[in-house]
Amino acid sequence: MCGIVGAVAKRPIAKLLIDGLKKLEYRGYDSAGVAVIDAHYQLKRLRVAGKVRELESVMHDHLFQGQTGIAHTRWATHGVPSEKNAHPFVSHDEFALVHNGIIENHSVLRDQLQRDGYCFHSDTDTEVVVHLIHKNYKKNQDLLAAVRAAVMELKGAYALGIISKHDPSRLVAVRQGSPLVIGKSQGENFIASDPLALLSVTQQFIYLEDNDMADITLEDIKIFNMDMQEVKREQHTLSISHDAVERGEYRHYMKKEIMEQPEAIASCLEGRVTDDHVLPAIFGPGADAIFSQVEHIQLVACGTSYHAAMVARYWLESLADIPCTVEVASEFRYRKIAPSKNSLFVTLSQSGETADTLAALRLARKMDYLSTLAICNVPGSSMTREADLQFLTRAGVEIGVASTKAFVTQLTALFLFVLALRQKRTADTQLEVELVAQLRRVPALVEKVLQQDAAIVNWARALMNKEHAIFIGRGALYPVAMEGALKMKEISYIHAEGYPSGELKHGPLALVDTNMPVISTVPGGELLEKSLSNLQEVRARGGKLYVLTDQVHLFDQDSFAGAHIIAMPCLHAALAPILYTIPLQLLAYHVAVLKGTDVDQPRNLAKSVTVE
Ligand code: G6P
Repeated sequence: MCGIVGAVAKRPIAKLLIDGLKKLEYRGYDSAGVAVIDAHYQLKRLRVAGKVRELESVMHDHLFQGQTGIAHTRWATHGVPSEKNAHPFVSHDEFALVHNGIIENHSVLRDQLQRDGYCFHSDTDTEVVVHLIHKNYKKNQDLLAAVRAAVMELKGAYALGIISKHDPSRLVAVRQGSPLVIGKSQGENFIASDPLALLSVTQQFIYLEDNDMADITLEDIKIFNMDMQEVKREQHTLSISHDAVERGEYRHYMKKEIMEQPEAIASCLEGRVTDDHVLPAIFGPGADAIFSQVEHIQLVACGTSYHAAMVARYWLESLADIPCTVEVASEFRYRKIAPSKNSLFVTLSQSGETADTLAALRLARKMDYLSTLAICNVPGSSMTREADLQFLTRAGVEIGVASTKAFVTQLTALFLFVLALRQKRTADTQLEVELVAQLRRVPALVEKVLQQDAAIVNWARALMNKEHAIFIGRGALYPVAMEGALKMKEISYIHAEGYPSGELKHGPLALVDTNMPVISTVPGGELLEKSLSNLQEVRARGGKLYVLTDQVHLFDQDSFAGAHIIAMPCLHAALAPILYTIPLQLLAYHVAVLKGTDVDQPRNLAKSVTVE
């Protein structure tokens, strides 16, 4: 992962680079560094183990001045988080480089370079690249040619930013498999892993594509392919306001993003449904013909997005009668796949940049799938550019590493997708009319669930000192239980497992004793009786029951004495996954806050995983 920012300007840019890095900390936050070229054309560098604010606290603006520079926030892959392993790396105090990705052949290159006399000062895969640039520069004193020659030797995924004291107003950037964008402004230009880092300086962006190399100066941006032919890349204007990426009144981004969910869902629905049906054209030109032919759906995703895909499988088969398989991208991409006939390949991703999901999409495009669709939150991201069809979830910028509003908008988008497919399979519109009416109620009902915040804080107090927790659910609420458990693990570091309620007796019940909290989702519907029996199995072993239900009256009986109940609004059972996710997010959030963990930047994780 890691975040990169770079600038070539006519003003001191160290502070600006640091501010940019703060917006990229979601990509990694175990060490940080910055390098600039000073007024005497010398490279200056500062690095720390720890977060960007620690880098900021040791950087004295007046002593660390330069108008061209690069900066980096790291998520360690090779080498522990430490100052010596933090980027930028330098070679002979002439070149400085930042890297996001993995250089797979680093150890062969390191051996060669050591034989050539280069000394290494870090344990990273990255340091070889800067020495390779130095080595090649000696041949013809041309920075761009030296970078190209170095890159030709690399295997792996990388986004690179390079500066050189020999070319003080020049910044070279390369993209191969890791995201990189150029920010264009008047008399100054920038690079970053994500436009978010540059919103305070520009709204004009050029997304680099794989194999692109950019030569960036104060007034000019030239992009070349690796054959050194100039290529044209479109310029995009981003209208995200700077405020959208601020925390505002909230203590954490995660809480802000949880509270924004009613609005995010409403925005996902806007212009896509009428009073009684889903508009057929919303999946773009070409979707209509493809949807008519679909006989199977293959969903591929990672992390929270994978849980959304799992929910969709229940919907696809029960509402649209379409067989569906779901797989995590890191598995899908490395096994032999036999695509089903007329199968539509669908990726789900908040960022649109997750390395495994993107690789799976690229693979699918070469296979015998009917077509590809990316359901994604980030316009202009790699997946939206590369899939045949795109659908934006419109959650707005999500910064907390633990995904919340992106997940519920993915569910909303998937529900629309399922109804759009259903239209092709049946002339019976009655169920769609009912479901659309229910779907339109969701933003208001999510608002209502959010009002249970205080009750959830009470649950959190009871859970904060636990080491383990079990989350259970049936049907489409099983993946919701997995998502609740994932949230708990990610930010509170409590070991949590999400299980189908009916599977308890096949293993996890052995863990249940008076110390084990079991958090369950019990909406009314066909599976209600079954769920109640599962809860009794837990009670009989002394487990502590925490129940989210719209059937509160059933828990008044003695047989559920001592169970903790939170009332949920009634809604069509198919839509329960969206509503029941909300209290689970709040629960993980409050446990984490009570435990004092780093909610927005949990240890060892990052939001956008652009490495394997
Ligand atoms: C990381 C994040 C998760 C996210 C997953 C997939 O693991 O920490 O929150 O769900 O990546 O990300 P994507 O952007 O593809 O949805």
